[in-house]
Amino acid sequence: MNKLKEVLINKNNSCNPIWFMRQAGRYLPEFKKIRSTNKDFIKLCLNSKIASKITLQPIKRFDLDAAIIFSDILMVPFSLGQDVEFTKNYGPKLSFFNLNKFLNNNLSNFSSKLNPVYKSITKTREDLNKEKSLISFIGSPWTLVVYMLNLKNSKKEIELDLLETKKEEISIIIKKINSFLCLHIKNQIEAGADVVQIFDSWAGLLPNKFIEPFCFEPNRVLVDFCRENKIPVICFPKGLGKKYLDFYNNVKPDGLSIDYGIDPEWARNKLDKATIQGGMDPKVLLLDEKHIFAEAKKYLTIFQKHPYIFNLGHGLLPDTNPDKLLKLVNFIRNF
Ligand code: CP3
Repeated sequence: MNKLKEVLINKNNSCNPIWFMRQAGRYLPEFKKIRSTNKDFIKLCLNSKIASKITLQPIKRFDLDAAIIFSDILMVPFSLGQDVEFTKNYGPKLSFFNLNKFLNNNLSNFSSKLNPVYKSITKTREDLNKEKSLISFIGSPWTLVVYMLNLKNSKKEIELDLLETKKEEISIIIKKINSFLCLHIKNQIEAGADVVQIFDSWAGLLPNKFIEPFCFEPNRVLVDFCRENKIPVICFPKGLGKKYLDFYNNVKPDGLSIDYGIDPEWARNKLDKATIQGGMDPKVLLLDEKHIFAEAKKYLTIFQKHPYIFNLGHGLLPDTNPDKLLKLVNFIRNF
């Protein structure tokens, strides 16, 4: 069994596998080179050969324990009929959401649109060392809805009135989208992925009364689906604070990825049945080595006797220096 599965399934606390959210991408010169001649990001995700090559770039450089397939959570709304555009300094922009059009989607069209992603998983599995995991992922329904309905304002908050007016529509979307997400998980497993990560990056925006129906419930359906399909699953309900514990008790994933707002000692004591992943603030990697090593040491020490996957509290930042990341990886390996 590879290291990531050892720690997720067998709760082995001695192997500390390492990977990083957003490890493939915008901070790597070899990615930027490819990106400069591939202006359309969606097309790039649908180019199986290049996507597989990008997936392997951080493995070549840092010899990490897991590759995460190069794709995006927004490939799902794209495959359900919304145009997705990535504009510099603004982030993704989706075309207007049409509920009827959305509800008319069928599963087989969806699968064939995403077929290039599955092909890149199969190709990557062939080229990736057998001892390493290949992680597939999805965005959770709520986080996808935030983009699909354009719910965030410029201050990265949700307009509560808007949420109230749209709550019925959101419930319908969440139920329907979960069937596509289950299929997307199943297709990725069949293509060769051996771990699933569910990104609920905007869970922290939800007011209390909506956390159960829009976050816990849909994540629980997805985690149960992974369990039926015998694949370990890591959840990342970013921004939930102390409600990470309620999330764990309600959803019960194999692994919980903690964000940088979570006190790691609290996580170790309260989330004691889960494999814990991540936590360290990605901004620390912009500081000097002394600070980076001190912070990494803090996490490694706190989780010394706990099943722990080294990762960060969110994705690597575009300004991260890859040489510093390599030094961090070596530091963890020698700890
Ligand atoms: O982790 C990996 O290396 C695998 C690939 C991956 C990408 N996006 C590639 C990407 C993964 C796992 C994601 C997940 C993702 N995408 C999330 C969840 C994680 C998180 O960061 O909270 C979210 C919310 C998205 C949506 C998204 N995609 C945004 C907001 C943006 C624009 C801002 C940004 O982060 O660059 C993207 C674009 C994107 N996805 C890029 C990459 C490499 C940058 C594209 C570019 O080169 O311009």
